[in-house]
Amino acid sequence: MKSFAVFLSAFLLASAALADVHEISTPSTTLLLRADVGDFPRYVYYGAHLKSSDIATLLDTRPAEVAAYPTYGLDTPSEAAIAVTHADGNMTLDLKVRSVEEKAEPNGILTIVHTEDPVFPFQLDLCYRAYDDVDVIETWTEMTHQEKKPVLLRMFASGTLPLRRGNVWLSSLHGTWADEGRVCEEPLTPGLKVIRNRDGVRNSHTSHAEVMFSLDGQPQELTGRTVGAALCYSGNYRLRVQTDDSDWHRFFAGICEENSEYRLAPREKFVTPVLALAYSAEGMSGVSRIFHRWGRTYKMAHGKQPRQVLLNSWEGVYFDINEDGMHQMMRDIKDMGGELFVMDDGWFGDKYPRNRDTCSLGDWVVDRRKLPNGIPGLVKAAKEIGIDFGIWYEPEMTNSTSELFEAHPDWVVKADKRNLVYGRGGTQLVLDLANPKVQDFVVGLFDELMTANPDVRYVKWDANMSIMNHGSQYLTRDLQSHLYIEYHRGFAAICDRIRAKYPDLVIQACASGGGRANWGVMPWFDEFWVSDNTDALQRIYMQWGTSYFFPAIAMASHISAAPNHQTFRVIPLKFRIDVAMSGRLGMEIQPKNMTDEEKDLCRKAIAQYKEIRPIVQMGNIYRLLSPYKHQSLASLMYVSDARDKAVFYWWKLETFMDEHLPRVPMAGLDPNATYTVRELNRIDNNPLPFEGKSFTGAYLMANGLEIPYTHDVDYHKRIAWASRVLLLEKE
Ligand code: GLA
Repeated sequence: MKSFAVFLSAFLLASAALADVHEISTPSTTLLLRADVGDFPRYVYYGAHLKSSDIATLLDTRPAEVAAYPTYGLDTPSEAAIAVTHADGNMTLDLKVRSVEEKAEPNGILTIVHTEDPVFPFQLDLCYRAYDDVDVIETWTEMTHQEKKPVLLRMFASGTLPLRRGNVWLSSLHGTWADEGRVCEEPLTPGLKVIRNRDGVRNSHTSHAEVMFSLDGQPQELTGRTVGAALCYSGNYRLRVQTDDSDWHRFFAGICEENSEYRLAPREKFVTPVLALAYSAEGMSGVSRIFHRWGRTYKMAHGKQPRQVLLNSWEGVYFDINEDGMHQMMRDIKDMGGELFVMDDGWFGDKYPRNRDTCSLGDWVVDRRKLPNGIPGLVKAAKEIGIDFGIWYEPEMTNSTSELFEAHPDWVVKADKRNLVYGRGGTQLVLDLANPKVQDFVVGLFDELMTANPDVRYVKWDANMSIMNHGSQYLTRDLQSHLYIEYHRGFAAICDRIRAKYPDLVIQACASGGGRANWGVMPWFDEFWVSDNTDALQRIYMQWGTSYFFPAIAMASHISAAPNHQTFRVIPLKFRIDVAMSGRLGMEIQPKNMTDEEKDLCRKAIAQYKEIRPIVQMGNIYRLLSPYKHQSLASLMYVSDARDKAVFYWWKLETFMDEHLPRVPMAGLDPNATYTVRELNRIDNNPLPFEGKSFTGAYLMANGLEIPYTHDVDYHKRIAWASRVLLLEKE
């Protein structure tokens, strides 16, 4: 960061002597902030990286400036980032710059604008972390006070960003259980657009805490100035875009305050979650590549470690767990080349066996009737078979039918004087993670399992219920509004303790499918389950949206049975494989029910996935043709950092006679390099015309390849579906 001490124009000289503009830069982006001592902090610029000479000239031209963190009370009509009620009842806040601090960090610079209210002893730090190796700027706030009694925080955004009006479009993700991550695009129009979550536990089923703004009209994948914003928080959030009578759209993001007003005690420090900002002139895919790189490097567990190919037992056997069955699945996945087997729900419960979803959560003892040799027996068997072993858990929950609830009815989330409200199975309850004893219990049970079974390699951590009733039996009456925030502080504390002790464990964030796809969760988790819906066609749409913000390495994507268990659609195995192979490949199926031919196809696919795994999981995404564009086709590719290898995916979405599918130009390749094309997962009797042939990157990016609309297979094997996966390797 550089500080520009610039003399103000005559117009401003009247009010201040010196203007202090701070440059917060990443390799390709710049954010300019004016922080004059005694005045409120202002945004000057955010976008492509600026040279010093341009910054100087820009400042000379007196650019329009917008409050960087608008406060409520002295400009009440405007949308505010923060609103408080002081100990004496005063509802105004006025934050003036006291000083600006720059701290060198191992991978960038942290700029802190210290502000204070001139009348009340209330201080707020605006923090900006700029990385020196990835184009993300993280912003958040930290506040404290020395008033006589608590100050009520009524609004407390993590950060704000003004966007110059023009033809600005918002892209966001919405959906529901089994249909997560659907893309929604809309132009920003006057008024207030709000995207929020109040689930309490999961926060990415119905909407996502990440958005993109396309500044040059309708969203484009490969071109156009685009801003991405991701609120990194596991709990409730609220994103706002206000378009008023000014030249600006104002974006605000933070914890959802609606049911979470916070009584900040004197000298207590309140820290808001990080809001991550990214800018690219290379469209939405450009912003995605930035978020993916930043995520893999800084924001997820083991972001640089290739993920194993696994079989998860859920759709194969559901609750029907038994030792022989688990052994058979382990042998089958090993035989197909898999590296890990995960035993899902149904393995636990003594007094109340977990045979369905109506009981036993919290009773994390193995059901010896199903597994006489316990978890150690399974881990031993996995070792003998030659694969790793993983296990399912839902540690934040219990059921009213459980030994845990019988012993600790005061450990569940419940409103005083009210009956319990139940979730899944009509009996599920959320444990009150605000309670330190509950935190100890959750950490303890994890510890017990891992101490007894140090070779467990993977945990699927599930969370299948919302906070339905607002009430903590632990928090005092005056702090009931802290429930949601304290729940997530408890969750974070648990995760920190578990990670401190088990840094190498692979942990999946599952939450009724894709309920925990958020960067606030990922520092402790290796991946998330994208959706309980494993239908390959619908997955194309869901994974497309999810990939806006999350890399393939984080997106668990499994080959499942046909007919599909959620949509009952019958999709041929080839297509199911080709879709699953665009994420973190796994299987969610009973291999016993597969034919030898199907197993062979999967064996081949797994072997080929291992070959392309580094490109898919660590590469750069280029989304080429969106399924949302209704052209009967979707296509994307991943390109390695060195641009020497790429994987191209092509999925036909519909089948009509005599339709004309577009040819899809590729992207991200080295125009001067020559690439040899090889088809993966081939089922055709004859190779494609371009199999083994070489093309320049320039040709492929200008023209793409002419891909046959159907598969060349024997008559009785012909199918309506078609898909291709091509590996491109530099000569
Ligand atoms: C949730 C998960 C599923 C499975 C079941 C088990 O729905 O999303 O993958 O683990 O729970 O009950």
